[in-house]
Amino acid sequence: MATSNRVLVIGGTGSIGKGVAVGLQRAGHAVRIFTRDGVAARQQLGEGFDYAQGTLSDDNSLRRALEGCSGVHLSLPSGHDPVVLEQVQHQGAARVARLAAEQHVGHLTYTSGYLVSERFAHIPAEQAKLNAEKAIRNSGVPYTIFRPTYFTDILPRFVQGKRGSIIGKQPHPIRFLTVSDFAGMVAAAHRLPGTNSSLFVCGPEALTFEQALRLYMEAQVPGGQMSHTPFWMMGLMNRLFLKGQLTETLQLLAATEAVGEIGDPAAAIQIFGAARTTVREWSRKMG
Ligand SMILES: NC(=O)c1ccc[n+]([C@@H]2O[C@H](COP(=O)([O-])OP(=O)(O)OC[C@H]3O[C@@H](n4cnc5c(N)ncnc54)[C@H](OP(=O)(O)O)[C@@H]3O)[C@@H](O)[C@H]2O)c1
Repeated sequence: MATSNRVLVIGGTGSIGKGVAVGLQRAGHAVRIFTRDGVAARQQLGEGFDYAQGTLSDDNSLRRALEGCSGVHLSLPSGHDPVVLEQVQHQGAARVARLAAEQHVGHLTYTSGYLVSERFAHIPAEQAKLNAEKAIRNSGVPYTIFRPTYFTDILPRFVQGKRGSIIGKQPHPIRFLTVSDFAGMVAAAHRLPGTNSSLFVCGPEALTFEQALRLYMEAQVPGGQMSHTPFWMMGLMNRLFLKGQLTETLQLLAATEAVGEIGDPAAAIQIFGAARTTVREWSRKMG
């Protein structure tokens, strides 16, 4: 096993993965970013990282990237494209787990999702993550699968101009988690042996989507208005104007509307401590 504290981040240029890469680095890990485009990644993330170029379908580039790494973190693209879900999210995770086991990498961490289970396997993204989780478990690499709730950092996606929009009624409280707090947990995990478990992780307070979005808008969109958009209307807009880009989001939000946030953070809190950043604090700081 590599004795360095170098962590390879796969998906480190992504909207969530970037925050995790930065958090790992701030916590003292050396971070190598695995990317399809080293020049673009360097332009985006700067010189503080080391870069390995390759694709998730190529064993050789992955083997080289994993060389000398004590850990690897997977933050793979989700969405509604069946090819990406199967080849990148599922097969990519499986390939990395197999190679990491072969190279005796000490700990693989994986960003999964809180709805990932047989119950929600009718949602293609959740099925792909379920398959990825199974492959990781069966690979023999020591692992920790993180199943985060909704990230606080996605709240701005529900605002256009001065209008915040809640999709559906969303009556259930969610314990929104900041990417920065999540990154702290991933960084702490990479100082420990693999837990070989799946951990639900969430933030410190339970708020409905409306309460959370209101806090964000009060801080960042003064004078903004909020409204609820019914699922049928968003579905129509998604089909007619957005080429299905929102399909996965709508599927996840519909599931959340039906069942709320499922998950017990006790096991994660015992290992990493509780996340601390509230939606109000995050919203104030991000301006
Ligand atoms: N719970 C929540 O609220 C929440 C919110 C958002 C996301 N997530 C989850 O977090 C994970 C990461 O999401 P993200 O938004 O950071 O993903 P993303 O922005 O789509 O980034 C994923 C990265 O994967 C790499 N990649 C490799 N092969 C790719 C391919 N064929 N197509 C596209 N990208 C490819 C890309 O890096 P290179 O271009 O450098 O190769 C890309 O930057 C997902 O599992 C997602 O479901 C959760």
